[in-house]
Amino acid sequence: MTFDTVVADRPLRGVLVGAGFIGRQWAPELLAHPGTRLVGWVDVRPERARSAAGALGRADLPVGASLTALLDAEEPDFIVNCTVPEAHHEVTVTALERGVSVLSEKPMAVTLDEATSMVAAADRARRLFMVNQNRRYMAALAAYRRTVADLGALGMLASEFLMPYKGVEFLSALEHPLLQDMAIHLFDAARAISGADPVSVYCESFRPPWTWYPGACSAMAIFEMTGGLRYTFTGSWSAHGLPTSWTGSWRAAGTRGTALWDGEDAITVGAAPSESLKPAEPEPDPYPERRRYTGLAEGLAEFVTGLRTGGLPQGECHDNLRSLAMVTAALESARTGKRVPI
Ligand SMILES: NC(=O)c1ccc[n+]([C@@H]2O[C@H](COP(=O)([O-])OP(=O)(O)OC[C@H]3O[C@@H](n4cnc5c(N)ncnc54)[C@H](O)[C@@H]3O)[C@@H](O)[C@H]2O)c1
Repeated sequence: MTFDTVVADRPLRGVLVGAGFIGRQWAPELLAHPGTRLVGWVDVRPERARSAAGALGRADLPVGASLTALLDAEEPDFIVNCTVPEAHHEVTVTALERGVSVLSEKPMAVTLDEATSMVAAADRARRLFMVNQNRRYMAALAAYRRTVADLGALGMLASEFLMPYKGVEFLSALEHPLLQDMAIHLFDAARAISGADPVSVYCESFRPPWTWYPGACSAMAIFEMTGGLRYTFTGSWSAHGLPTSWTGSWRAAGTRGTALWDGEDAITVGAAPSESLKPAEPEPDPYPERRRYTGLAEGLAEFVTGLRTGGLPQGECHDNLRSLAMVTAALESARTGKRVPI
């Protein structure tokens, strides 16, 4: 888990890969961070990168369809991988093998085999490879995490994520669009909130009769976690009415009581007899002056600190592999009908 730091006394040079929805959210962050410089933008459809750069007043930015050509020309310190999940492995390994560190969008990869080989590539190259799980930086999630830590030993954790979503194009092409795309946010949040790691899972992934997705857009899973904790997940991209928040809704029960969180602002607690509990207060927003996409500035800040100091950021690839393993084991369980060890 060690990687080489960047010692040169100059801003870190970053190349964006992918100029779709999330790539366009990352670009302003690289421009705003005082320690980074945006030096190029790659997309297999380069006109997307060109127009996105132009919209930010950076029509001069080198753009292109070839990642290797731009890496060779610009010699960046890092890339931000904002491509579709199917391209994550190729893009990340290409950068790492050229000695370039990687800050990636979730999920790390589509399969655990791909992810394991990406982590090995980072180890071989001695480069930092981090997956930005942006929900971890929500002030309310961090407050819920502190509230849950005060419940004593945890026995049960439950999350629900249900909404009617006609989202981005690539979701409709996936066999299990909920498990393969969104579930990583909830599973990683379950690890962050509980401090526990996965042991095994039983999962069913299915299509409600009315869904507009060709794939299995809904799922229910029971995880055994370390310490004997059970974590249950219920989710759907095709649930009409009463949607949960984008971070789901949560219930945790421990020896000292129960804590609920609506995934946005409201944390409520109920104490066991003769105990007393108080919800933790969220920390103030560190970036109140600008409108921003949740958790990108904070993730970039941790990544930059990691590259400069050697400190491990949240989402460092060895740790993030455990969240991805929850997804791939849930998929295996859904396909085989069996409980799967993780
Ligand atoms: N953290 C979050 O809240 C959040 C939100 C949205 C998307 N995401 C993640 O971000 C990633 C991208 O999602 P999106 O919504 O921006 O998708 P998108 O389809 O809008 O954009 C992806 C872009 O990548 C480009 N691309 C594909 N393969 C490429 C390759 N090999 N090299 C270079 N460019 C390539 C495509 O042409 C497209 O412009 C996904 O992994 C998704 O799960 C995360």
